[in-house]
Amino acid sequence: MLEKNVLIIGTGGREHALAEALTIKSDKFKTNLFFAGNSINPGIVKISSGYKKCTLDRFDLIDKFIYEKKINYLIVGPEAPLADGIIDNLGLEKNNLFCFGPKCNFAKVESSKSYCREIMNKYGMSQYSPQHAIFNSSNDIHSMFNCVEYVYKLNSKSGFVIKNDKLCGGKGVFVSNEHVNIETGLIKCKEFFEKGNKFIIEEKLTGPEFSLMTISDGLNCKHFPIAVDFKRAYPGDKGPNTGGMGSICFPDNNVPFLTSEQIEEAKSINERMLDALKKENNNEGYIGILYGSFMLTDFGIKVIEYNCRFGDPECLSLLSLLKTPFIDVLYACAETKLNDIELEFNDECSICKYFVPENYPDNPKKNELLDLDFINKIAEDNNLLVRYASVNHDVESVSKKCISLGSRTFAFISLNKDHRIAYNNIENGMNAFFKENKNFWWRKDIGAPGEFWEKRT
Ligand code: AMP
Ligand code: GLY
Repeated sequence: MLEKNVLIIGTGGREHALAEALTIKSDKFKTNLFFAGNSINPGIVKISSGYKKCTLDRFDLIDKFIYEKKINYLIVGPEAPLADGIIDNLGLEKNNLFCFGPKCNFAKVESSKSYCREIMNKYGMSQYSPQHAIFNSSNDIHSMFNCVEYVYKLNSKSGFVIKNDKLCGGKGVFVSNEHVNIETGLIKCKEFFEKGNKFIIEEKLTGPEFSLMTISDGLNCKHFPIAVDFKRAYPGDKGPNTGGMGSICFPDNNVPFLTSEQIEEAKSINERMLDALKKENNNEGYIGILYGSFMLTDFGIKVIEYNCRFGDPECLSLLSLLKTPFIDVLYACAETKLNDIELEFNDECSICKYFVPENYPDNPKKNELLDLDFINKIAEDNNLLVRYASVNHDVESVSKKCISLGSRTFAFISLNKDHRIAYNNIENGMNAFFKENKNFWWRKDIGAPGEFWEKRT
């Protein structure tokens, strides 16, 4: 057995899901897991051999930790360090390290929404974008005039969407008739102009949304099953956008609202994007996850955005279904031999739901005490998996308290061939926790039996 030391950057739900995927037994490798981040995730710490507590902009401390622990593989969970160039800045040669994640030039596909649209236009993929216009200049009267005119024009058709160009943790998007009207939308635009911020205005699209994650070793790529993310805070997909309140994968990747041709089309869009990014970067290949966020409209599949890492919560659903040891996947990527392995998934559905604190996302309550034994007992009783997110387990203190930090707190995941059983199990678990913890809530409607699960023709 070869030993591999793996460092996960980040301590949220996505990183806990990655850590668990690294516990899938491999015939070839024994994994020693380490993590770095600002908090201690009780799920990750339990299965790891060590950690570095630091903010994710401290590349110097992370580099030192990589060197000390003789890390072989680095996985970067969140987008911010990727956009800040963590992959470019760690001592690749000195440490003989393989980094699973894109360099910052590639991460721009997520960190600048206008760059993403420009690349799509440049490489013949404009048919997959909604109509859009990019606004940049702070005091340009023409630009402001054009912006007002554009908002009115879109408003008279299907509506408009205003998006901050840069990373906003899923909270920089304002959709007409949902978050803004023409007046408040134009005020948003004015604010962007005044601050000199780049922003983008898009035609409002409608239709079911889905996520497709594609893994790339720089030369070859493979696709994950489709996942559906529920981004809105309230039932019926209403309310402000959040990081994602829950997610679903379907039995056998049989997505009720997509034909197999449409799934193939989404795969080919991701492949074309990987190709475009390669051409933009002197033929260097993209390494890591390319996550396409799509909408099926009456005019075909459209790209809502691209992300340069695993989706959270999508990867909580997806990686719970993964059968292939993730360490084998990392090895294959490191050796540019992704084509030599199969990504195998079990054929159940996967429903994932986050508990979020009172007043999330606007003014969330924090510092609630969490009883980990109680959560584990509920999971056991209801056949659920647990993934911790915005919490800190103070393992260094005598009290060893685990407290909530104010964002998505933890998720239960329920797997079953029958979606009704999966739903009942997860709802029983959520209710059992809520009974004793009234300061948290979740979206009951996610995964509920009904037309969502039925094949549409
Ligand atoms: P994003 O951060 O770009 O993924 O956007 C967050 C959410 O805003 C998406 O999941 C959609 O629900 C919504 N959204 C973004 N762009 C559009 C669009 N052009 N039309 C309709 N809804 C959109
Ligand atoms: N699920 C949304 C995101 O990860 O950006």
